[in-house]
Amino acid sequence: MTKDGGKIATDLLAHYDVHARRLAWRALPGANAADPYRVWLSEVMLQQTTVAAVGPYFATFTARWPSVEALAAAADADLMAAWAGLGYYARARNLLACARAVVRDHGGVFPDTEEGLRALPGVGAYTAAAVAAIAFGRRAVVVDANVERVVARLFAIDTPLPAARPAIRAAADAITPDARAGDFAQAMMDLGATICTSRNPACGICPLRNDCAAVRTADPAAYPVKAAKKARPHRTGHGWWIERADGHVWLVRRPDKGLLGGMRALPSSDWSADPDATPPFAADWRMLAEPVDHVFTHFSLALAVHTTHVGEDHAPSGAGEWWPVARIADAGLPTLFARAAQAVLKEKDADARH
Ligand code: ADE
Repeated sequence: MTKDGGKIATDLLAHYDVHARRLAWRALPGANAADPYRVWLSEVMLQQTTVAAVGPYFATFTARWPSVEALAAAADADLMAAWAGLGYYARARNLLACARAVVRDHGGVFPDTEEGLRALPGVGAYTAAAVAAIAFGRRAVVVDANVERVVARLFAIDTPLPAARPAIRAAADAITPDARAGDFAQAMMDLGATICTSRNPACGICPLRNDCAAVRTADPAAYPVKAAKKARPHRTGHGWWIERADGHVWLVRRPDKGLLGGMRALPSSDWSADPDATPPFAADWRMLAEPVDHVFTHFSLALAVHTTHVGEDHAPSGAGEWWPVARIADAGLPTLFARAAQAVLKEKDADARH
């Protein structure tokens, strides 16, 4: 740690001691480390996802699966359904693989070093560093998008992202203290989430105001500099709502590999510039007036939703299950398909009132 780095850590930790957000997975500032299972679970959930969105999921998961042993024993389908709506579903599959590895290979005890954690399935550099620091008090350099922004500003790093990452990491390393590295990491994240926000940062109340190079420039919010964004491609697709006369809808499970892998879904076409619009079988298909629009990380999608009704003896081809329409909210559909289902039900409601 550099001399200036020491001042930054001291200033930030003093602020954290008073202002730390009280979050369910956290120990109080300066207290002994929190439960590694809860820290690991929260860090996986918090990747690309806000604290506000994670809160209810964290509460549900820890109530239902209070330990890594309990989680390791969960059925895949139950876990995927409980994750529905959080997005980035590969995280849920990795979560289960990791819990099972901790129980099978480590007697249910998380490894307590960055290196040991990194060897677990689905645990990347970020999660390993975060858990090592927050749960085990190890000195580790924890860099997520919030920390990246704070550090780029502190040092006015003007190389555009992603090329700036090595410099940002080196600077983060230089200011990470030997003691309280977990509190320091979380203090950096809190600062990024509440004061050093990407737009309209609250520099006037920032505890690192006197340590910050960007605040002395005309536009602190201009850091980190971002490379020009490529436009997100647009795709279309077709989804098929097959409703049986006894009030069930046909759901499939998406292949494990790929987008929304392992999640329950409506049967759907490929998603592309020119998707195959052939329905799964010939019938009286009706298309909803509006497609369901959804933005994924790498493309946006307009899903045209088609509905049909079939008799109780109808057997769609391929694997799937009949799910009660009245309980569709419990199917664990990812957001895209949950919204498609809502759109179908809303249109049905409107038709019933005419
Ligand atoms: N984002 C990721 N991990 C976090 C944590 N431990 N506290 C606050 N925000 C976070």
